[in-house]
Amino acid sequence: MFDPQEFIEQQIMKLREEVKGKAVIAASGGVDSTVCAALVGKAIGDRLLAVYVDTGFMRKGENENVSEMLRRLGVNHKLVDASDEYFDALKGVTEPETKRKIIGEKFIRIFEREAKKSGAEYLVQGTIAPDWIESGGGMRDIIKSHHNVGGLPKDLNLKLVEPLRDLYKDEVRKVARALKIEVAERQPFPGPALAIRVMGEPTREAVAIAREACAIVEEEIEKASAAGKMKLPWQYFAVLLPVKSVGVQGDIRAYGYTIAVRAVDSVDAMTAVYSKIPHDVLEQISIRITNKMKDKVNRIVYDITHKPPATIEWE
Ligand code: XMP
Repeated sequence: MFDPQEFIEQQIMKLREEVKGKAVIAASGGVDSTVCAALVGKAIGDRLLAVYVDTGFMRKGENENVSEMLRRLGVNHKLVDASDEYFDALKGVTEPETKRKIIGEKFIRIFEREAKKSGAEYLVQGTIAPDWIESGGGMRDIIKSHHNVGGLPKDLNLKLVEPLRDLYKDEVRKVARALKIEVAERQPFPGPALAIRVMGEPTREAVAIAREACAIVEEEIEKASAAGKMKLPWQYFAVLLPVKSVGVQGDIRAYGYTIAVRAVDSVDAMTAVYSKIPHDVLEQISIRITNKMKDKVNRIVYDITHKPPATIEWE
């Protein structure tokens, strides 16, 4: 039986042994990196710098939320706006693995840059077990090169510290709860963020559509769950498809994009079943998204695939 308190105590001792100089961590606002920052912060205090990179792919309100949370946790941190750099690097890139590789690599480079400035020798990462198992570790085929692993360059000059490497998502959440991190109840969010919730090239415009749609899906599902209409799914979001279809607006023919809504239940992300969301909740999501983005989106579909054969994310 996994004991989060014991894990925390052992990790803090281990981290004090392991990390002798300054360290940087990529704070993404997700459960994994926040738990990591809190753990390492407890172990080495202000020798840790949490760098939050605004890639341009973050969720609505995310930048403000992350800064506020790190401040409350007492973690030394800094915000870097790298959105221009990311959109430039992904111009014309549509292939999912290429996207992930570019994003992952850029991420590491930015940290190297920030680390140099701060004099850090260690890079702390929130890699968890499914990340490396699905990235070809443990003799498995590569399904997706996860953000934390796929982009890792060979000439990395920083020593890697991965305190959550052996944990599954449900265990990370237990640790978060034990650390009184409110992010514990938040749904998981992928490292490459909205860039992989836009099928095809992640342009500023496409990402803005996915951002708005994701926010609406989150709001409506959380509202329905709070009202007792449904159980909160394990993960729920929207994906912008590159498919245009014919619609009608007033009496004029329209030609707009399609949004797929995805909601799944899972324990450890290795398998998942799609959530049976009540139809009136789906209806509300559909109406709100198409009203909010009238000239851009005119069709909403619901993804009814389990994992396997699908994965949770679409890329
Ligand atoms: P898939 O799509 O592979 O996702 O079924 C499994 C879980 O992992 C999340 N995910 C990621 N997490 N870096 C991460 O830390 C990533 O690159 C990444 N890609 C997907 C996904 O949201 C789901 O919860």
